[in-house]
Amino acid sequence: MTRPKGLIIAIDGPAGVGKSTVGKMVAERVGYSFVSTGRMYRALAWKALELGADLGDGEGLAALAGRLKWEFPKGAGPEADVALDGRRLERELTDERVGKASSGIALLAGVRLFMKDMQRKAGEDGGVVMEGRDIGSNVFPDAELKIYLDASPRARAERRVSQLRGQGLQADFDQILDFILKRDAQDSGRKINPLVKAPDAHYLDSTSVPREAVVDAIVELFERAAKTPR
Ligand code: DC
Repeated sequence: MTRPKGLIIAIDGPAGVGKSTVGKMVAERVGYSFVSTGRMYRALAWKALELGADLGDGEGLAALAGRLKWEFPKGAGPEADVALDGRRLERELTDERVGKASSGIALLAGVRLFMKDMQRKAGEDGGVVMEGRDIGSNVFPDAELKIYLDASPRARAERRVSQLRGQGLQADFDQILDFILKRDAQDSGRKINPLVKAPDAHYLDSTSVPREAVVDAIVELFERAAKTPR
């Protein structure tokens, strides 16, 4: 299948592995747009918390999501890429309370169906790097290039600690490691669309690999995939 704007590059992997940073860098290198699906779940969780909505009601949350105006502006900053009803969401989405709620609502079938539909519309023309947990396995099983990006929980916790401290925030390593392990269990253990490596995804372990080298490896795979006749 040929898509009008190019290929779909799907990047999946666990929390804190750097999918957004790497995905954005790859998108810039190859001239594609970048979509973070984690931020879609986070945005809906943020809105639900704001409204005091029932975080266990999948149908209600899907209906709420359907009433909102979703936009994905090209951000100046690394995180500015979701706006709901005209309000741009940035720091709000990195709040731990929002992160936890997003992992919870991501368990619900109604929410997942809404997200899949929105994500397919955002990416089906190609020319996109899309990151998440189930992009290669569920949203775009026909993506031309699939990456499963991994790193040990300790490496991910260390990166998160230095990221937070770099922003002048306090960070406790053990607490963050515990949080990452719990999130892994929830994302991989859920019944619907769990985090799994698609059989045809390239596995990249970034535990002791610098980010630039991970980006180089993905761009190389992209160049090879772009030459493959379809
Ligand atoms: O990547 P992230 O931490 O910003 O994602 C927030 C939550 O959203 C994560 O705990 C799992 C969920 N998620 C998902 O279930 N499927 C996706 N494609 C992306 C995120």
